[in-house]
Amino acid sequence: MSGRLDGRLVGLGITGSIAAYKAAELIRLLRAEGAEVQVLLTPSAARFVAPLTLAALSGHPVDGDILDLLPDGRIGHVVIADSADVLVVAPATAHWLGAMANGLAADPVTAACLATAAPVVVAPAMDGEMYAHPATRANVARLREGFGYTIVEPELGPLASGQVGLGRLAELSRIVDAVVAAAGDGPVRAPDPAARPPRLAVEPRDADLVGRRIVVTAGGTAEPIDPVRFIGNRSTGRMGVAIAEAALDRGAAVTLIAANVSVALPEAAEIVRVESTGQLRAALLDRLVGPDGAAAFDVLVMAAAVADFRPVAPTDVKLVRGGPMTLELEPTPDILAEVARIAHGLDATGARTRDPLQPRPVLIGFAAETGSFDRAADKLRRKGVDLLVANDVGEPGSGFGTDTNRVTVYAADSEPEAWPLVSKREVADRLLDRLARRLADRAG
Ligand SMILES: Cc1cc2nc3c(=O)[nH]c(=O)nc-3n(C[C@H](O)[C@H](O)[C@H](O)COP(=O)(O)O)c2cc1C
Repeated sequence: MSGRLDGRLVGLGITGSIAAYKAAELIRLLRAEGAEVQVLLTPSAARFVAPLTLAALSGHPVDGDILDLLPDGRIGHVVIADSADVLVVAPATAHWLGAMANGLAADPVTAACLATAAPVVVAPAMDGEMYAHPATRANVARLREGFGYTIVEPELGPLASGQVGLGRLAELSRIVDAVVAAAGDGPVRAPDPAARPPRLAVEPRDADLVGRRIVVTAGGTAEPIDPVRFIGNRSTGRMGVAIAEAALDRGAAVTLIAANVSVALPEAAEIVRVESTGQLRAALLDRLVGPDGAAAFDVLVMAAAVADFRPVAPTDVKLVRGGPMTLELEPTPDILAEVARIAHGLDATGARTRDPLQPRPVLIGFAAETGSFDRAADKLRRKGVDLLVANDVGEPGSGFGTDTNRVTVYAADSEPEAWPLVSKREVADRLLDRLARRLADRAG
């Protein structure tokens, strides 16, 4: 997915116009452009369109009461004002234009607009006479010239009153274009999900992975040196766990092979605990083929940070301090490449010796890189995987231990896609969107 509002947060203010129902479709269009949408309502708007509908469509609880606090004690309209890339008020009533022109912050929409440094887009909708009234004209002029807001002028057409006039809410595509133009191409303002308004605990999503068996590996492996010491890495398992949770939410049966993790594991998954690369490999190979010789899972997501090297000869007794010591390391087996060979029916030399596994599992790998992704496309080909998700673990906010990630997705059959810095859950959701499409195409 790559839209014109990728990774952006749009605050959508809805006011008490008959056109408020169109805001539901506007949410869908903004999200289709890659935006996260947070709805703000005036009290009148909540009588035109149900907050439940808007929350379900946006994935965020609606901010509809200026005097309500967020569950964590933050002030909703201030959080939105501080984190949104754009605020758009659509539809904007005559009453709201008057309140805004005069700075009357009695509802969350006006308050957020007053409190924000983000650009504001306003799409008025009302009866033609109301729009033509000098009071409304003056209010619109104040918003445009005085405050620098973008006004998406209403259109001429039939109105709810039965009359024809200039006051009909602009076509939604014009409003989306105005939001895109206002957002510009600068960086996302608040990529950290903790700085944004909260999402619904469980965002309604399509159950598009029902009946699919997905194996996810997560966390960092530990390679023993002696009974108390090991070679490990900084992986916390967050990315893999986010993928497992997202897949469960979409109806998949998930096996989570967890190496060393420091986050809670989803209860609904089958959990297999491992420590070392060798154990992870054994756990995976055990589960690759079913008793009937067919593939035992549909998808493998290798999100674990697997060691590339391990001590050649771990000792049974604790090593004691003496003189200098040299630790001899050997490369570990490339588990993903090995699984890919089995899936494709190839032997270790790359020659086809058997039929490919049926149905051929979709294989998704992760590559932690530092500095450049030059090796990623080559890795994708060499390992024989379908998708490779590369991230720069040296970049702030990306990689180990953070809640966010910036990744580039390489596919065997399309151009690489660079996604913006978003939460790991969002990376998981987007990845599963691609996966679900791939599985559906295959079935088709
Ligand atoms: C059925 C109905 C439709 C309305 N449609 C509009 C409208 O399209 N534009 C408008 O400015 N006011 C409209 N109003 C009047 C507003 O709802 C009213 O001025 C309200 O106070 C606006 O509050 P708000 O601006 O805080 O949302 C409508 C009223 C009713 C009863």
